[in-house]
Amino acid sequence: MHLHRYEKWWLTFGISALIIFLSIVGIQAFHQGHKPPSEKAFVDPERVSETEPFTKPGLHKVQGKDWDYELVIVAAAFSFTPGEVEIPKGAKVKIIATTRDVVHGFEIAGTNVNMMLEPGYISEYVTTFNKTGEFLIICNEYCGTGHHMMSARIKVVDK
Ligand code: CUA
Repeated sequence: MHLHRYEKWWLTFGISALIIFLSIVGIQAFHQGHKPPSEKAFVDPERVSETEPFTKPGLHKVQGKDWDYELVIVAAAFSFTPGEVEIPKGAKVKIIATTRDVVHGFEIAGTNVNMMLEPGYISEYVTTFNKTGEFLIICNEYCGTGHHMMSARIKVVDK
């Protein structure tokens, strides 16, 4: 097979670039131990239901923190616990969520809350619910046959 000289240059350039980029990613991942950007806290995925705060999923009032409530959510194929939660309007809420099995998504439709829940990691986000109404929580990471049915509901109500 005959390759044009410029073609050879481009092939060499392309393959070298690929090798360099993969090496950089590989060194960062394995040598420097880079983790997903949500990495802040860990939980043993096998023991989620025995680990604080996931022993009590739901909305809890807290004091002495920068937020008023903590909303603890556990995802598992194919549901969120709790499936429905009521939040007073204007509440500043820290969402603390994890998954018991595979990767799930946590998106509150119509808001900018959108997290990936990864086994072994705790995903957190602080937000304020300023609009009353019903909000749908959906899983936006394909997680299996029941993925499209995986949802929960937030009701923001006047105090
Ligand atoms: Cu859980 Cu898709």
